[in-house]
Amino acid sequence: MTIAEIQQSILQMKKEQDVCILAHAYQGQEILEVADYVGDSYGLSVQAAKSSCRGVIMCGVRFMAETCKVLCPDKTVWLANPSAGCPMAEQLDPECLQMLKQKYPDYTVVAYINTTSELKTECDVCVTSSSAVQICSRIENDKILFIPDPNLGRYVADQLPDKTFAFYHGGCPRHVAVTLQDVEKARSLHPDALLLVHPECRPEVVAQADYVGSTTGIMSFAEKSSAREFIIGTENSIVEHLQFACPDKQFYPLAVSLTCMNMKVTTLMDIYNCLSGRGGEEIQLSDAVLQGAGRCIRRMVELGG
Ligand code: 13P
Ligand code: SF4
Repeated sequence: MTIAEIQQSILQMKKEQDVCILAHAYQGQEILEVADYVGDSYGLSVQAAKSSCRGVIMCGVRFMAETCKVLCPDKTVWLANPSAGCPMAEQLDPECLQMLKQKYPDYTVVAYINTTSELKTECDVCVTSSSAVQICSRIENDKILFIPDPNLGRYVADQLPDKTFAFYHGGCPRHVAVTLQDVEKARSLHPDALLLVHPECRPEVVAQADYVGSTTGIMSFAEKSSAREFIIGTENSIVEHLQFACPDKQFYPLAVSLTCMNMKVTTLMDIYNCLSGRGGEEIQLSDAVLQGAGRCIRRMVELGG
């Protein structure tokens, strides 16, 4: 079968089965073309809550499918490729969090959405990269324990100087790998380009950026900007998507290392197999996890507006 034939079958099957396809912006172009909604982690959560379909296929990583299930417990939710996990989401387990909570007893626990739903049951509210500053600013407590990504946490803390933050030493292995040397090299190759970076990058990289934001934020900044050239400091599929969306502009990767193999593991055939009943994994969560993580995620949607 050709890519176009597989896409055609997927479009037909999802309509017949009343299934919607949600895709994170780090997925490949051939997947985005069959998706009902493409966005960043926050957008995917909001869209999952709004969707009226019987079933949802998540093309992204496991915590995204779990978030979708928590927000839509009555829907059947599949993770298109069961091996798609986010290493950052596995960095902190509930026992480890208990120890941190003992160290910071009067802190509000803010979890980046890149955490397991089991861990979220022990947290007060979760945030995404696009909602973190707003949500943390709206939390009444001025002491915040931000887990697991200290880079995003420090980016938020810098903008909320009246609050006291404590961090865990986790982070995204892809974004953390980007160095100041990568910035210098990219800038010398493309001196007229604006540098757009994700706040999961190290603070010294973020400090060099012309714009800092989530994947959707970066895309919409580049699309609207009157500048012609951009260095993209997030997962490299965004370089390709932007090049398709804005053929008259130029986009360059900040670093080759910004390729997330966990996001790349999902293929068009995974969606096809999931709809054919031969693949994917149906997400099952206990009532306790649905309730506990639901409280944490719904608080995010409330505070995030
Ligand atoms: P956003 O989708 O919130 O920009 O996060 C990026 C990411 O790393 C998702 O795993
Ligand atoms: Fe996880 Fe980083 Fe990949 Fe996002 S880019 S899924 S945070 S490893």
